[in-house]
Amino acid sequence: ARNLRHRSFLRELDFTPGELEYLIDLAAELKSAKRTGTERPRLRGKNIALIFEKTSTRTRCAFEVAAHDQGAHVTYLDPAGSQIGHKESMKDTARVLGRMYDGIEYRGASQRLVTELAEYSGVPVWNGLTDDWHPTQTLADFLTMREHAGKSLHEISLAYVGDARNNVGNSLLVMGALMGADVRIVAPKPLWNTPEIIGRAEEVAATTGARVRHTTDLCRGVDGADFVYTDVWVSMGEPPEVWDERIELLSPYQVTAGVMAATGNPRARFLHCLPAFHDRATTVGADLYDRTGLESLEVTDEVFESDRSVVFDQAENRMHTIKAVLVATLGG
Ligand code: CP
Ligand code: NVA
Repeated sequence: ARNLRHRSFLRELDFTPGELEYLIDLAAELKSAKRTGTERPRLRGKNIALIFEKTSTRTRCAFEVAAHDQGAHVTYLDPAGSQIGHKESMKDTARVLGRMYDGIEYRGASQRLVTELAEYSGVPVWNGLTDDWHPTQTLADFLTMREHAGKSLHEISLAYVGDARNNVGNSLLVMGALMGADVRIVAPKPLWNTPEIIGRAEEVAATTGARVRHTTDLCRGVDGADFVYTDVWVSMGEPPEVWDERIELLSPYQVTAGVMAATGNPRARFLHCLPAFHDRATTVGADLYDRTGLESLEVTDEVFESDRSVVFDQAENRMHTIKAVLVATLGG
Protein backbone atom coordinates (compact mmCIF):
# COMPACT_ATOMS: atom_id res chain seq x y z
CA ALA A 1 0.00 0.00 0.00
CA ARG A 2 1.10 3.57 -0.64
CA ASN A 3 2.25 5.53 2.32
CA LEU A 4 0.05 8.56 2.55
CA ARG A 5 -0.04 8.48 6.33
CA HIS A 6 0.22 11.93 7.95
CA ARG A 7 0.23 13.70 4.58
CA SER A 8 -1.88 16.76 3.81
CA PHE A 9 -3.97 17.04 0.64
CA LEU A 10 -3.96 20.72 -0.30
CA ARG A 11 -4.02 20.31 -4.08
CA GLU A 12 -3.75 17.47 -6.58
CA LEU A 13 -0.06 18.27 -7.20
CA ASP A 14 0.75 17.21 -3.60
CA PHE A 15 0.36 13.57 -4.64
CA THR A 16 1.87 11.50 -7.45
CA PRO A 17 -0.34 9.97 -10.15
CA GLY A 18 0.18 6.59 -8.46
CA GLU A 19 -0.94 7.95 -5.10
CA LEU A 20 -4.04 9.59 -6.59
CA GLU A 21 -4.98 6.42 -8.40
CA TYR A 22 -4.45 4.48 -5.20
CA LEU A 23 -6.96 6.79 -3.46
CA ILE A 24 -9.50 6.23 -6.24
CA ASP A 25 -9.02 2.45 -5.99
CA LEU A 26 -9.37 2.62 -2.20
CA ALA A 27 -12.57 4.69 -2.58
CA ALA A 28 -14.02 2.04 -4.90
CA GLU A 29 -13.18 -0.64 -2.32
CA LEU A 30 -14.72 1.35 0.52
CA LYS A 31 -17.82 2.00 -1.60
CA SER A 32 -18.37 -1.67 -2.21
CA ALA A 33 -17.61 -2.55 1.42
CA LYS A 34 -20.28 -0.11 2.56
CA ARG A 35 -22.79 -1.60 0.09
CA THR A 36 -22.11 -5.16 1.18
CA GLY A 37 -22.05 -4.28 4.90
CA THR A 38 -18.41 -5.34 5.29
CA GLU A 39 -16.85 -1.96 6.06
CA ARG A 40 -14.21 -2.09 8.78
CA PRO A 41 -13.77 1.07 10.91
CA ARG A 42 -10.16 2.17 10.71
CA LEU A 43 -10.47 5.59 12.34
CA ARG A 44 -11.71 4.68 15.82
CA GLY A 45 -10.62 7.20 18.43
CA LYS A 46 -9.68 9.84 15.85
CA ASN A 47 -10.95 13.40 16.13
CA ILE A 48 -11.43 15.53 13.06
CA ALA A 49 -12.12 19.28 12.80
CA LEU A 50 -14.13 20.62 9.87
CA ILE A 51 -13.62 24.33 9.21
CA PHE A 52 -15.99 25.96 6.75
CA GLU A 53 -15.42 29.64 6.01
CA LYS A 54 -17.60 29.16 2.92
CA THR A 55 -20.87 27.26 2.90
CA SER A 56 -21.24 23.61 1.82
CA THR A 57 -23.69 20.77 1.53
CA ARG A 58 -21.82 17.91 -0.17
CA THR A 59 -18.34 18.43 1.23
CA ARG A 60 -19.43 18.86 4.83
CA CYS A 61 -21.84 15.92 4.73
CA ALA A 62 -19.30 13.75 2.94
CA PHE A 63 -16.67 14.40 5.62
CA GLU A 64 -19.17 13.83 8.44
CA VAL A 65 -20.61 10.57 7.06
CA ALA A 66 -17.20 9.25 6.03
CA ALA A 67 -15.79 9.95 9.50
CA HIS A 68 -18.78 8.38 11.29
CA ASP A 69 -18.68 5.28 9.06
CA GLN A 70 -15.03 4.84 10.00
CA GLY A 71 -15.53 5.41 13.74
CA ALA A 72 -14.07 8.95 13.99
CA HIS A 73 -15.62 12.00 15.64
CA VAL A 74 -16.01 15.41 14.01
CA THR A 75 -16.35 19.01 15.17
CA TYR A 76 -17.86 21.53 12.76
CA LEU A 77 -16.50 25.08 12.97
CA ASP A 78 -17.51 28.19 11.07
CA PRO A 79 -16.55 31.84 11.52
CA ALA A 80 -19.90 32.68 13.15
CA GLY A 81 -19.47 30.13 15.94
CA SER A 82 -15.71 30.39 16.52
CA GLN A 83 -12.82 32.87 16.55
CA ILE A 84 -11.70 31.67 13.12
CA GLY A 85 -11.52 34.30 10.42
CA HIS A 86 -12.00 37.36 12.59
CA LYS A 87 -10.53 37.07 16.09
CA GLU A 88 -7.51 34.81 15.78
CA SER A 89 -4.73 34.30 13.25
CA MET A 90 -4.50 31.10 11.23
CA LYS A 91 -1.11 30.41 12.76
CA ASP A 92 -2.57 30.40 16.29
CA THR A 93 -5.74 28.55 15.27
CA ALA A 94 -3.56 25.89 13.66
CA ARG A 95 -1.44 25.40 16.77
CA VAL A 96 -4.53 25.12 18.99
CA LEU A 97 -6.39 22.66 16.78
CA GLY A 98 -3.23 20.65 16.15
CA ARG A 99 -3.05 19.93 19.91
CA MET A 100 -6.56 18.47 19.93
CA TYR A 101 -7.33 17.00 16.53
CA ASP A 102 -5.82 14.23 14.43
CA GLY A 103 -6.75 15.94 11.16
CA ILE A 104 -8.41 19.12 9.89
CA GLU A 105 -10.55 19.89 6.86
CA TYR A 106 -10.54 23.50 5.67
CA ARG A 107 -12.77 25.33 3.17
CA GLY A 108 -12.18 29.02 2.54
CA ALA A 109 -10.96 31.49 -0.04
CA SER A 110 -7.24 31.37 0.46
CA GLN A 111 -4.82 28.65 -0.60
CA ARG A 112 -2.15 30.44 1.43
CA LEU A 113 -4.22 30.01 4.61
CA VAL A 114 -4.89 26.31 4.13
CA THR A 115 -1.16 25.85 3.53
CA GLU A 116 -0.39 27.78 6.73
CA LEU A 117 -2.89 25.63 8.62
CA ALA A 118 -1.07 22.49 7.47
CA GLU A 119 2.31 23.96 8.31
CA TYR A 120 1.49 25.06 11.86
CA SER A 121 -1.00 22.41 13.00
CA GLY A 122 1.37 19.50 12.43
CA VAL A 123 -1.55 17.21 11.49
CA PRO A 124 -2.93 16.25 8.07
CA VAL A 125 -5.00 19.05 6.52
CA TRP A 126 -7.45 18.42 3.66
CA ASN A 127 -8.50 21.21 1.31
CA GLY A 128 -12.30 21.20 1.10
CA LEU A 129 -12.20 24.01 -1.56
CA THR A 130 -10.32 27.26 -1.93
CA ASP A 131 -10.48 29.86 -4.69
CA ASP A 132 -7.65 27.98 -6.42
CA TRP A 133 -8.30 24.25 -6.04
CA HIS A 134 -10.99 21.68 -5.16
CA PRO A 135 -8.99 18.45 -4.91
CA THR A 136 -11.51 16.25 -3.09
CA GLN A 137 -13.99 17.06 -5.88
CA THR A 138 -11.73 15.85 -8.67
CA LEU A 139 -11.05 12.54 -6.90
CA ALA A 140 -14.82 11.93 -6.91
CA ASP A 141 -15.08 13.07 -10.52
CA PHE A 142 -12.42 10.65 -11.73
CA LEU A 143 -13.97 7.77 -9.77
CA THR A 144 -17.34 8.63 -11.37
CA MET A 145 -15.83 8.82 -14.85
CA ARG A 146 -14.06 5.51 -14.41
CA GLU A 147 -17.31 3.87 -13.31
CA HIS A 148 -19.26 5.23 -16.28
CA ALA A 149 -16.64 4.96 -19.01
CA GLY A 150 -15.57 1.45 -18.08
CA LYS A 151 -12.07 2.54 -19.19
CA SER A 152 -8.85 3.33 -17.37
CA LEU A 153 -8.35 6.92 -16.36
CA HIS A 154 -5.69 7.61 -19.01
CA GLU A 155 -8.14 6.61 -21.75
CA ILE A 156 -10.81 9.09 -20.67
CA SER A 157 -11.52 12.28 -22.60
CA LEU A 158 -13.08 15.16 -20.72
CA ALA A 159 -14.27 18.54 -21.98
CA TYR A 160 -14.66 21.18 -19.28
CA VAL A 161 -16.91 23.95 -20.58
CA GLY A 162 -17.25 27.27 -18.73
CA ASP A 163 -15.22 29.25 -16.20
CA ALA A 164 -11.82 27.56 -16.20
CA ARG A 165 -10.27 30.18 -13.91
CA ASN A 166 -12.18 28.82 -10.94
CA ASN A 167 -11.19 26.09 -8.48
CA VAL A 168 -12.95 23.29 -10.38
CA GLY A 169 -11.48 24.37 -13.74
CA ASN A 170 -7.96 24.38 -12.29
CA SER A 171 -8.37 21.10 -10.46
CA LEU A 172 -9.81 19.24 -13.45
CA LEU A 173 -7.06 20.48 -15.76
CA VAL A 174 -4.26 19.43 -13.43
CA MET A 175 -5.91 16.18 -12.27
CA GLY A 176 -6.56 15.24 -15.91
CA ALA A 177 -2.90 15.90 -16.67
CA LEU A 178 -1.81 13.79 -13.68
CA MET A 179 -4.10 10.93 -14.71
CA GLY A 180 -2.81 10.94 -18.30
CA ALA A 181 -6.25 11.79 -19.68
CA ASP A 182 -7.37 13.82 -22.71
CA VAL A 183 -8.52 17.16 -21.23
CA ARG A 184 -10.03 19.97 -23.24
CA ILE A 185 -10.74 23.34 -21.66
CA VAL A 186 -13.51 24.97 -23.69
CA ALA A 187 -13.98 28.62 -22.74
CA PRO A 188 -13.61 32.18 -23.93
CA LYS A 189 -9.96 33.22 -23.61
CA PRO A 190 -10.36 35.52 -20.58
CA LEU A 191 -11.66 32.50 -18.64
CA TRP A 192 -8.88 30.07 -19.52
CA ASN A 193 -6.67 28.92 -16.64
CA THR A 194 -3.77 31.28 -15.94
CA PRO A 195 -0.56 30.78 -17.96
CA GLU A 196 1.16 29.51 -14.78
CA ILE A 197 -1.40 26.76 -14.28
CA ILE A 198 -1.45 25.85 -17.97
CA GLY A 199 2.35 25.64 -17.88
CA ARG A 200 2.23 23.36 -14.85
CA ALA A 201 -0.40 21.11 -16.46
CA GLU A 202 1.69 20.87 -19.63
CA GLU A 203 4.79 19.90 -17.63
CA VAL A 204 2.82 17.17 -15.90
CA ALA A 205 1.23 16.03 -19.17
CA ALA A 206 4.69 15.59 -20.71
CA THR A 207 5.46 13.00 -18.03
CA THR A 208 2.10 11.17 -18.00
CA GLY A 209 1.14 11.15 -21.68
CA ALA A 210 -1.90 13.34 -21.06
CA ARG A 211 -3.24 15.65 -23.78
CA VAL A 212 -4.22 19.08 -22.53
CA ARG A 213 -5.76 21.59 -24.88
CA HIS A 214 -7.51 24.95 -24.66
CA THR A 215 -10.00 26.11 -27.24
CA THR A 216 -12.69 28.74 -27.65
CA ASP A 217 -14.47 26.51 -30.19
CA LEU A 218 -17.28 24.66 -28.42
CA CYS A 219 -18.02 22.10 -31.15
CA ARG A 220 -14.39 21.23 -31.70
CA GLY A 221 -13.72 21.17 -27.97
CA VAL A 222 -16.37 18.56 -27.16
CA ASP A 223 -15.90 16.47 -30.33
CA GLY A 224 -15.32 12.84 -29.36
CA ALA A 225 -15.43 13.55 -25.62
CA ASP A 226 -16.60 10.89 -23.17
CA PHE A 227 -17.58 13.54 -20.63
CA VAL A 228 -18.80 17.13 -20.74
CA TYR A 229 -18.36 18.95 -17.43
CA THR A 230 -19.50 22.39 -16.38
CA ASP A 231 -19.69 24.47 -13.22
CA VAL A 232 -21.36 27.71 -12.15
CA TRP A 233 -20.38 30.88 -14.01
CA VAL A 234 -19.76 32.82 -10.80
CA SER A 235 -18.19 31.12 -7.81
CA MET A 236 -18.67 31.60 -4.09
CA GLY A 237 -16.95 34.74 -2.86
CA GLU A 238 -16.99 36.56 -6.21
CA PRO A 239 -18.72 39.95 -6.19
CA PRO A 240 -22.19 40.18 -7.78
CA GLU A 241 -20.84 42.77 -10.25
CA VAL A 242 -19.10 40.04 -12.27
CA TRP A 243 -22.43 38.48 -13.29
CA ASP A 244 -23.09 40.69 -16.32
CA GLU A 245 -19.68 40.08 -17.82
CA ARG A 246 -19.83 36.33 -17.16
CA ILE A 247 -23.25 36.02 -18.72
CA GLU A 248 -22.00 37.81 -21.79
CA LEU A 249 -18.84 35.70 -22.04
CA LEU A 250 -20.38 32.34 -21.22
CA SER A 251 -23.89 32.37 -22.70
CA PRO A 252 -22.58 30.77 -25.92
CA TYR A 253 -21.09 27.98 -23.76
CA GLN A 254 -24.26 26.76 -22.03
CA VAL A 255 -24.37 22.95 -22.08
CA THR A 256 -27.43 22.08 -24.16
CA ALA A 257 -28.66 18.89 -25.82
CA GLY A 258 -26.96 20.26 -28.95
CA VAL A 259 -23.61 20.38 -27.15
CA MET A 260 -24.04 16.79 -25.95
CA ALA A 261 -24.87 15.78 -29.54
CA ALA A 262 -21.77 17.63 -30.81
CA THR A 263 -19.63 15.12 -28.92
CA GLY A 264 -20.66 12.64 -31.63
CA ASN A 265 -20.60 10.11 -28.81
CA PRO A 266 -23.98 8.61 -27.93
CA ARG A 267 -22.52 7.39 -24.64
CA ALA A 268 -21.18 10.81 -23.60
CA ARG A 269 -22.11 11.74 -20.05
CA PHE A 270 -22.73 15.08 -18.34
CA LEU A 271 -20.97 16.09 -15.11
CA HIS A 272 -21.40 19.03 -12.72
CA CYS A 273 -19.80 19.36 -9.28
CA LEU A 274 -23.03 21.00 -7.99
CA PRO A 275 -24.63 23.08 -6.74
CA ALA A 276 -25.97 24.33 -10.06
CA PHE A 277 -27.20 27.94 -10.32
CA HIS A 278 -26.61 28.95 -6.69
CA ASP A 279 -25.24 32.46 -6.83
CA ARG A 280 -27.46 33.83 -9.59
CA ALA A 281 -30.52 32.47 -7.84
CA THR A 282 -29.38 34.04 -4.59
CA THR A 283 -28.67 37.32 -6.35
CA VAL A 284 -32.13 37.50 -7.87
CA GLY A 285 -33.74 36.29 -4.63
CA ALA A 286 -35.41 33.31 -6.29
CA ASP A 287 -36.93 30.40 -4.43
CA LEU A 288 -34.24 27.75 -4.61
CA TYR A 289 -36.38 24.85 -3.50
CA ASP A 290 -38.55 25.04 -6.56
CA ARG A 291 -36.59 24.76 -9.77
CA THR A 292 -39.61 25.52 -11.97
CA GLY A 293 -38.79 28.49 -14.17
CA LEU A 294 -35.33 28.67 -12.69
CA GLU A 295 -33.07 26.85 -15.10
CA SER A 296 -29.41 27.16 -14.31
CA LEU A 297 -27.47 29.24 -16.78
CA GLU A 298 -24.63 26.81 -17.35
CA VAL A 299 -26.74 23.76 -18.30
CA THR A 300 -30.29 23.26 -19.55
CA ASP A 301 -32.71 21.15 -17.52
CA GLU A 302 -33.05 18.93 -20.56
CA VAL A 303 -29.42 17.84 -20.10
CA PHE A 304 -29.29 18.08 -16.29
CA GLU A 305 -32.34 15.81 -15.89
CA SER A 306 -31.47 13.42 -18.73
CA ASP A 307 -30.10 9.92 -18.40
CA ARG A 308 -26.76 11.26 -19.65
CA SER A 309 -26.40 13.20 -16.41
CA VAL A 310 -24.35 11.50 -13.69
CA VAL A 311 -24.26 14.45 -11.31
CA PHE A 312 -25.77 12.58 -8.36
CA ASP A 313 -23.32 9.70 -8.74
CA GLN A 314 -20.62 12.35 -8.51
CA ALA A 315 -22.21 13.75 -5.36
CA GLU A 316 -22.36 10.30 -3.75
CA ASN A 317 -18.77 9.62 -4.72
CA ARG A 318 -17.64 12.69 -2.79
CA MET A 319 -18.28 10.64 0.35
CA HIS A 320 -16.45 7.49 -0.79
CA THR A 321 -13.41 9.41 -2.03
CA ILE A 322 -13.20 11.65 1.03
CA LYS A 323 -13.40 8.50 3.15
CA ALA A 324 -10.45 7.10 1.20
CA VAL A 325 -8.45 10.27 1.87
CA LEU A 326 -9.23 10.05 5.63
CA VAL A 327 -8.38 6.36 5.85
CA ALA A 328 -5.15 6.72 3.84
CA THR A 329 -3.85 9.74 5.73
CA LEU A 330 -5.09 8.90 9.26
CA GLY A 331 -5.72 5.17 9.32
CA GLY A 332 -3.47 2.77 11.18
N1 CP B 1 -19.42 20.20 -4.93
C1 CP B 1 -19.31 20.75 -3.70
O1 CP B 1 -18.21 21.01 -3.18
O2 CP B 1 -20.50 21.00 -3.08
P1 CP B 1 -20.71 21.77 -1.68
O3 CP B 1 -20.37 23.24 -1.94
O4 CP B 1 -22.15 21.55 -1.35
O5 CP B 1 -19.79 21.18 -0.65
N1 NVA C 1 -16.73 26.87 -8.44
C1 NVA C 1 -17.73 26.66 -7.43
C2 NVA C 1 -17.67 25.25 -6.90
C3 NVA C 1 -18.65 24.93 -5.80
C4 NVA C 1 -18.49 23.53 -5.29
C5 NVA C 1 -17.54 27.66 -6.30
O1 NVA C 1 -16.40 27.87 -5.88
O2 NVA C 1 -18.54 28.26 -5.87
